[in-house]
Amino acid sequence: MLNDIDRILITREQIAQRVQALAQEIAGTYPDPNRGLTLVTILSGSIIFLADLIRYLPIRMKIGLVAVSSYQGATTVGSEPKLLDQLHINVAGEHVLIIDDILDTGRTLRLVQQQMWSLGPASVRTCVLLHKSGKAVCDVKADFVGFEIEDAFVVGYGLDFDDHYRNFPHIGVLKPELYERQGSG
Ligand code: IMP
Ligand code: MG
Repeated sequence: MLNDIDRILITREQIAQRVQALAQEIAGTYPDPNRGLTLVTILSGSIIFLADLIRYLPIRMKIGLVAVSSYQGATTVGSEPKLLDQLHINVAGEHVLIIDDILDTGRTLRLVQQQMWSLGPASVRTCVLLHKSGKAVCDVKADFVGFEIEDAFVVGYGLDFDDHYRNFPHIGVLKPELYERQGSG
């Protein structure tokens, strides 16, 4: 696994520190800990981030999971995302916080935001661990951002390439020849 990583961008220690600070920012935005919050998590890249984040959030919460297709197989080029599954979440009247691993073009977050607003929530905010600066193709912004990163394809801490490397504990840049070799961009 390590052989496939070009360089480490963010270490596990840096992630741990930032996730804790992010949880404090979020908690400050929802001052009534009993009002309730629904964290709508976009599978599968966000699962490790979610698991770490919620343990620093002393708020009454529910967790909902949604699946969105954007990358098909061994590619680093996203296509127009589709909502694949929405796992039984009732968010009417609830505060919703969408959690995603990375905001790249913004298409995924836009889709899930639109879907959530259609369900009659009290509010919809978004939190992403990573933001690739300058890549947005649509007018989507995240309310909470862990790290601004350069435009490189990254893996680890939940993020994958062709469903691999999610268990790499740091966030690293994948060697470009790995996906270029597969002829998929
Ligand atoms: P967007 O729709 O272009 O904003 O892309 C967001 C989705 O694409 C994220 O939820 C990720 O699953 C995936 N993605 C974008 N960039 C990367 C990356 O560098 N590594 C791994 N997954 C990525
Ligand atoms: Mg994703």
